[in-house]
Amino acid sequence: MIAGLSQPQKTLSPKFFYDAEGSRLFEAICRLPEYYPTRCELALTRRHLEDVARFAGRGVALVEYGSGASTKTRLLIGALRPRAYVPVDISEAALEGAQRRLAREFPWLPVQGVAGDFMQPLELPVFRARNARRRVVYFPGSTIGNLTPEEAHAFLRMTRAQVGARGAMLVGVDLKKDANVLHAAYNDAKGVTAAFNRNLLARINRELGADFDLRRFAHYAFYNLRRGRIEMHLVSLARQTVAIGRHRFGFDVGESIHTENSCKYSVEEFRALSLRAGFRAERVWLDPRRYFALFGLTAA
Ligand code: SAH
Ligand code: AVI
Repeated sequence: MIAGLSQPQKTLSPKFFYDAEGSRLFEAICRLPEYYPTRCELALTRRHLEDVARFAGRGVALVEYGSGASTKTRLLIGALRPRAYVPVDISEAALEGAQRRLAREFPWLPVQGVAGDFMQPLELPVFRARNARRRVVYFPGSTIGNLTPEEAHAFLRMTRAQVGARGAMLVGVDLKKDANVLHAAYNDAKGVTAAFNRNLLARINRELGADFDLRRFAHYAFYNLRRGRIEMHLVSLARQTVAIGRHRFGFDVGESIHTENSCKYSVEEFRALSLRAGFRAERVWLDPRRYFALFGLTAA
C-alpha cells in the first residue's frame, strides 16, 4: 500500500477491497439492478449447465479462484459432483461463510479452503486428491477483468501449468458493451459501489491506523473507452495530507487514488489472450444480450 501510494498516480490493488465489510458490500453490489454481471453469469450458467458439466467432466478436482460466497459454484457442484473442491480467496470472512454453507448443502463433498493471493503460487491440496479424473479451475465473476492484461496473461499461464495437459479452465468474462450500461453498473443509484470503494480507506484506517477523512474523498468511476476498462478512483475533495504510520501522503484537490480496473473484453480479444497463455477456447457460452461470456478452455 505504501509503495502504491508513493507513485505519481497513487494506486492501490483491488485485492485490498475484500475485508469482511468489503466482501459484504460486494455481495450487496451483486443484488443491485444496475449490476448486470452476476445475474447474466448465473442465468447463462443455469441455462447451459448440462453442456458446461459435459465440458468440465464429472468426478474432477475443482479449484475456484476468488470464490467469494461460492454462489455460482453451487450450480457446478450439483452438476459436476466433483471429488473435491478448493475455494481460494484472499477474504477469510468470505471463505469461512462459504465453507459453512457448502458443508450444510453438500455434506458428501470434501472442501478445503485456501486463504491467499491467487497471483502467488499456492500449494493446492486438491491436486493430490486421489481418483480425480482431471483438474478443473473455475474463475467466475469476471474477476480476471480486475487484472491488467499482462497480469491476466501471467495468471492464465500459471493456471495452464497447474491444470496440466488434460485439465480445463472455466472463466467468466464481462464483455464490451454500451458505455452507458457499464457506467451505470459502477455508479449505482443507492451508492453501494461508492461505499465499497470508500471502505478501502476505512479499512486502511482500521488496520494500519491511518487518518483518512472519508468525507474528503469521493467515489469516481468511468469507462475508459480507449483502454476498454472501467476505472474506479477515490478523488480528494481538498488539499490535504494523510498519515499512515510514519508515512505522509499529500493530495491536491482533484488528485485521485486509482483503486480498480475492470477490463472488458470482446470474445475475440479474450480468445487471443487465452491462446497466448497456452489455452484454446474450446467453448464460449453467452447470454442472449451478449453481455457476459463463460469460456471453456483446454490446453492448446
Ligand atoms: N467469484 C465470486 C466473487 C467475485 S468478487 C463471484 O463471481 O461472484 C472477487 C473475489 O475475489 C472476492 O471474493 C475477493 O476476495 C477475491 N479476490 C480478489 N483478489 C484476489 C486475490 N489476489 N487473491 C485471492 N482472492 C482474491
Ligand atoms: C469482482 N469484480 C469482477 C467486480 C467488478 O465488476 O470488477 C468488482 C466490483 N467493483 C465495483 N463493482 C464491482
